[in-house]
Amino acid sequence: MVRYPNEDSTMTARHAMLNRLRDRNVETALERDFYCSQEDYQTDLEMIWYRDWLFVGHDCEVLNPGSYLTVQIGEFPVIVVRDRDGGLRAFHNTCRHRGSRICSAERGTAPRLVCPYHQWTYALDGRLIAARDMGSEFDKSKHGLKSVHCASVGGYIWVCLGQVAPDFEPIRRHIEPYFLPHKLHQTKIAFQSTIIEQANWKLVWENNRECYHCAANHPELIRTFPEDPTATDGNSAASNARTAAKWGHWESIGLPSKFHLSANGQYRTVRTPLLEGAVSFTMSGKAAVQRPLADSVTEPDIGTLLMYHFPTTWNHVLADHAISFRVLPISPTQTQLTTKWLVHRDAVEGVDYDIRELTGVWLATNAADTRNCQENQIGVNSPAYDPAPYSPIHEAGVTQFVHWYCTHLEGRLLDDAK
Ligand code: FES
Ligand SMILES: [Fe+2]
Repeated sequence: MVRYPNEDSTMTARHAMLNRLRDRNVETALERDFYCSQEDYQTDLEMIWYRDWLFVGHDCEVLNPGSYLTVQIGEFPVIVVRDRDGGLRAFHNTCRHRGSRICSAERGTAPRLVCPYHQWTYALDGRLIAARDMGSEFDKSKHGLKSVHCASVGGYIWVCLGQVAPDFEPIRRHIEPYFLPHKLHQTKIAFQSTIIEQANWKLVWENNRECYHCAANHPELIRTFPEDPTATDGNSAASNARTAAKWGHWESIGLPSKFHLSANGQYRTVRTPLLEGAVSFTMSGKAAVQRPLADSVTEPDIGTLLMYHFPTTWNHVLADHAISFRVLPISPTQTQLTTKWLVHRDAVEGVDYDIRELTGVWLATNAADTRNCQENQIGVNSPAYDPAPYSPIHEAGVTQFVHWYCTHLEGRLLDDAK
């Protein structure tokens, strides 16, 4: 049997992590190492990021044959391509010759994928179709690009790096009804921002999963977004009379709205009312885009459709635009957050929308959240870090995320130990 030099230490670290997961205090944030140690970060990559379905981009970014987008997932560069038949394919963005990354642009269009190093050339289906001067014995058919699982639903593209991907159908069945009315494949990216936050990816999520910090940190957002957790989060929305009435109306006009959490706690959809009189995330509360996001959804007040899927994405879909957020880990204490603003594909900047009005609230909100997460990381790095219980009123969403993380990780570690 081949033994790898670090196999024993890897197994010891994983065994220790299992014990720490089991011994944790479920009423508080995780202990320090989960947020800053290299070993725990590597375990997160191998147990979660390299095995789960991850949101990488939108169908509208790769509409035509040959259009592609690239993404870096931990150590893996990946390319997603629209093939000649209109299907989506994903490959490891690593040349089969000597390994060069093939496509370095974040997005582009190419009739074939040509490695810039020695020009090995791949068809859009990943076959190697040209490799100069490799001799008569060389078999091109053995050196196609390695494929990555790829799926799309509701305008969202997902990849999975695992050998065997988890069943995508439950995700599709859950998300599709909520997103189909909004026709996100008929939109365009009006604006995009990417931030590298100096914080562990779980701190970025924990910050996202509560609005306990909103009053003090998000004066722009709370002009339109309710801080009240019974209006925005969890099953408690069902006990909020205004939310319940809105759900009834929206569902009657063909917009699925009720709170729906997946059985494993990994993803959730719910349509949430904005504050009275607000229809969009602007300083005035008025629509930022004059043209509705989807031609078929003309009612201006449809609140915001919230969707999250751990570990990569949370989202807002409004009547006039949609905003997607993509989380990717960079290091134990660095996380990339990419935010995209989607509008109707025929909406015209300067005519139908003003880019500053469209993006202002969430750019400010992201900036404040970046500060929150970075300061949280600096404090957690301290040996004196000693977390107190979560607020049962405001931090149930954080508790839910951390519970998902711990049980998911524990399940994967136990599976691997078999
Ligand atoms: S590494 Fe790609 S062609 Fe040589
Ligand atoms: Fe925030």
